[in-house]
Parts: sequence; structure tokens; C-alpha cells
Amino acid sequence: MSDQAQLARSRDRALVIDDVDLVYDNGFKALSKASLEVGTDERHALLGPNGAGKTTLFRSICGEIKVTGGSIEVLGEPATGVLPAQLVRRGVGRSFQIGRVFETFTTGENLELAHEASETWPGGTRARRLRPSDEAKSVAHQVAVDFGLANGYDRPASALSHGEKKILELAMAVIQQPRLLLLDEPMAGMSREETERAIEVLRVVGTGRAVLFTEHNMDAVFALADRVTVLARGSVIASGTPDEIRNDPNVREAYLGKRSGAGDFGHA
Ligand SMILES: Nc1ncnc2c1ncn2[C@@H]1O[C@H](COP(=O)(O)OP(=O)(O)OP(=O)(O)O)[C@@H](O)[C@H]1O
Ligand SMILES: [Mg+2]
Repeated sequence: MSDQAQLARSRDRALVIDDVDLVYDNGFKALSKASLEVGTDERHALLGPNGAGKTTLFRSICGEIKVTGGSIEVLGEPATGVLPAQLVRRGVGRSFQIGRVFETFTTGENLELAHEASETWPGGTRARRLRPSDEAKSVAHQVAVDFGLANGYDRPASALSHGEKKILELAMAVIQQPRLLLLDEPMAGMSREETERAIEVLRVVGTGRAVLFTEHNMDAVFALADRVTVLARGSVIASGTPDEIRNDPNVREAYLGKRSGAGDFGHA
């Protein structure tokens, strides 16, 4: 590929993962020649049975663990060897498989903090403010309304339901206006109603930016994803549109082999 073609390609790709290997300290190879690409305005689902390597791939993208082979490019620049905080500055937002909101802070304070963090990190010298700015307060409140979190705004996050905490965590990632949003099981443990609400929220916040998400709930995957990549034992076994993936015999085998009796791909 010419330099120009390479440049054009990396401009319309928010994430390029190329032949990535990852061996954990104990010698376990969790990723093997894994490749995938996410466009700048694409919702991409990463599927795979438990233990396939999905969280490992997320942690590799975010610089939490070092890949042992291949390369990762995030928002047009290499991500290998880059610290997580630098990636946040570059425009990467993230939520975790196990939620991470500040339990003793109110919903509003969690959102204000997330907003302030995005405002003050770029300079590198974070001036710690004792009080949030008026702007942070007003943005935080608007986001709470948009995400249906206005009700418990002044109550500690510990009082929220599990599903509401996950929505709050998503809101905290989105308030930083990331260009690439990485969501590890954003709907895990949600009730049916919460899942439906989360799908609607994700449909809105997933427009106009790149999103890579893992999810065991197939209804959510097929409702949201433009493209799907399937991992099994650390390797990509299929990649395509949701319809292509639904009918792929390798994918069905990878899931049904593990969860026999499941009508579709099964639910976690
Ligand atoms: N720190 C570690 N050291 C060694 N092995 C690990 C480590 N973390 C994860 N693994 C192993 O790597 C494999 C992939 O784990 P990972 O958490 O990435 O899977 P996953 O696809 O996210 O699964 P789930 O759907 O259950 O969240 C598993 O076999 C896991 O036991
Ligand atoms: Mg995981």
C-alpha cells in the first residue's frame, strides 16, 4: 500500500488491531494473531464465549497490558507502549466489565468529576479544583437528563440499581466526548427494561463516533452493531455483518460447543 493510501485508510479507521499476540506472565497465550478494524463512525461488536480473550483485547487497546506481538493503532497513531491516561487525552473513552463509579459520590458529582477530568487532563498539569465549575455542573445535569439519571441526581451512587450504575458509567465515559468508545459488557446484569433503555442510549451515543463493545446479549448485539468480530480461544474466527455472523457455522459451533442447548448463541 502507498503511503498516501495508508494515510487515507488510517484516517477513516478509529482502531486498527493487526496480528496481535498476548502472552500473560504465567505463559498463557490469551490472544493469537488477532486482527480487527473499527471505522470512525461504526458500532462494532466483539463476541466470543467466556474466556475467549475479549477483556484481554480491551486491556491491550487501553495500554493496561503489553501485547507480545503485532500492533495496535488508535485514532491514527500507534497505541503500543502508550499509557492509559495518554489514550484518554487522545480521545478514548472506556467502561469496564465490572462497574467503576464512585459509590459515595452522588450521580451528579460522578458526572461533574468525569467532565472536569476531560477538561483538565489535556494540559497534563491537573489543577485540582475544590468546586466544579458552573459549566461542569450544567453539562453534568444535562447528561443526567439525557441518560434518564436525573431522578437520583443528588443521591449517592451506592443507592442506584446495578443497571443504573452501568448507565452512569456509560454517561461518565460519554461526557468526555470520546472519538473511540470501548465498552466491556455495558449491559451485563441488567434487567430486561434496563437493557432496552441501554440499547436506546447506546444507539444515540454510538452515532458519530467509533464504538467497540462486547456483549453476551445477542438481541443487543443485533440491534446495535454495524459489524461483528468473533473471538474464540484468542483468535478471530469470523468477522462480518450481523447477518453473516448469525449464519456462520464456525460461530455457531464455537458457542454451541460450549453452551449446548442454547437456541441462539446463548446468553451469559
Ligand atoms: N492476568 C491473567 N493471567 C493469566 N491468564 C489470564 C489473566 N487474565 C485473564 N486470563 C485468561 O485469559 C483468557 C481470556 O480471558 P478474558 O478475561 O480476556 O476473556 P473474556 O473473553 O473477556 O471472557 P468473559 O466473557 O468471561 O468476560 C481466560 O482463559 C483467562 O483465564
Ligand atoms: Mg471479559
